[in-house]
Amino acid sequence: MLIDETFQPSDIEHLVDVENATASRQIFCDPGIWRMELQRIFTRTWLFVGHASEIPKAGDYVTRLMGNDPVILVRDAGGEIRVLHNSCTHRGSLVCRGTSGNARGFTCPYHGWVFDNSGAIRATAMDDALYKQHTDYHHFDLKRARVGTYGDLIFATWNDDAISLDDYLGDARWYLDIMFHRTPEGMEVLGAPHRWVSTNNWKLGPMNFGADGPHAVKVHGPITDATFAGGNARQMLRDALIESPSVSMGNGHNGIWTQAPEAFPPFLGWEPALIELFQKTLKPEQLQLMQRAVASVSTIFPNFSWVQGPASFEPATKMPTTFLAIRNWQPIAHDRTEIWNWFMVEKEASEAFKEEAKRMGIRTFSAGGTFDQDDAEAWHSIQRGVEGEIGRTLDVSFEMALAYRDRALVDFPGPGTAYPSNYAEVTEFDVLVEWQRYMTCKIDWAR
Ligand code: FES
Ligand SMILES: [Fe+2]
Repeated sequence: MLIDETFQPSDIEHLVDVENATASRQIFCDPGIWRMELQRIFTRTWLFVGHASEIPKAGDYVTRLMGNDPVILVRDAGGEIRVLHNSCTHRGSLVCRGTSGNARGFTCPYHGWVFDNSGAIRATAMDDALYKQHTDYHHFDLKRARVGTYGDLIFATWNDDAISLDDYLGDARWYLDIMFHRTPEGMEVLGAPHRWVSTNNWKLGPMNFGADGPHAVKVHGPITDATFAGGNARQMLRDALIESPSVSMGNGHNGIWTQAPEAFPPFLGWEPALIELFQKTLKPEQLQLMQRAVASVSTIFPNFSWVQGPASFEPATKMPTTFLAIRNWQPIAHDRTEIWNWFMVEKEASEAFKEEAKRMGIRTFSAGGTFDQDDAEAWHSIQRGVEGEIGRTLDVSFEMALAYRDRALVDFPGPGTAYPSNYAEVTEFDVLVEWQRYMTCKIDWAR
């Protein structure tokens, strides 16, 4: 049975069994649930839409998605960051067909209505006087989303009642600072996002990045052997994953910090000048977590994630370089996800480091990246396994969480709740627990 769009919170309550750490497979294969997610999650939460370094000058724009709505992220003539619904207020056409550029405004290709880069209507290109005389002209302005920034990270929401972005991010800000505000000048994007479609439900990505420690040694075992010198790379990775913390940052934001074995040097994969800047910029507790991190993988609910790690494809002769990828998991259908993936680097890094960080990112986490190839195959096979008539009647399990959820670390340096293992499954499942809170309308400001 498909759940239709009229279903009530009580119809969905049972789909995530919080107590037993399981979830119905139906949440990955039901078009009605996907549609309801767009309404109950994607029109209500804050969504990541871009980084200030993508639109440095007045008029700079990039096109993005908020759920299934196309938007334009633009810096207007006055320098204000706007997120405009990319749909003409006349008959609905896209007003911007490009993916990036610089424009004083946008002219609709259908009948030629003109909007400036703040979204205000400038001309209807038909009988302008008629429109001005008979209507409130500015009700034709493009619909504007509410914009929030945390440093150079830009988020937007359609929800006027949503809590502030600061409150929404909450404890995650401490970790976002480690990733995006660790040098005085901050980060910049290394080019435009890569985009590709994976054949699976969108939630598999945020859960995996929220994060799934146990898959790494199995799915990414061969590439781990290829990118770390020595014959016991997999075993070392497995030990590191088992013994490293996973963190629930609150509000559905979750991730893991995989700590390097003692034999590894601190700050593996960075150039020395950057390490000095980290030491000047971050708090001692943040440095403590960062300096031994060989992988940091997290999700900001619902669909923004990052992955950072050191990589070398000639491990016998070349030291690794740390890459940082950020991504949105776009829910384009119940069984299709469009992955948007960017690379970021410290503005102060040398050109050589930037080039190598981008190269390592592209070779690992991108459309052709080794790790994404591994994951895409695994996630496609999950989609095939769960959506059959029998498959959808069963559950998926996160029951390792039962053994870990009461074992919060007491000496962890960061905020939120940390657990002692990347294998704990608590934080990965927490993405679904938050999903259920939105879907059952339990969050006051998101009703
Ligand atoms: S649809 Fe845009 S001008 Fe008519
Ligand atoms: Fe993976």
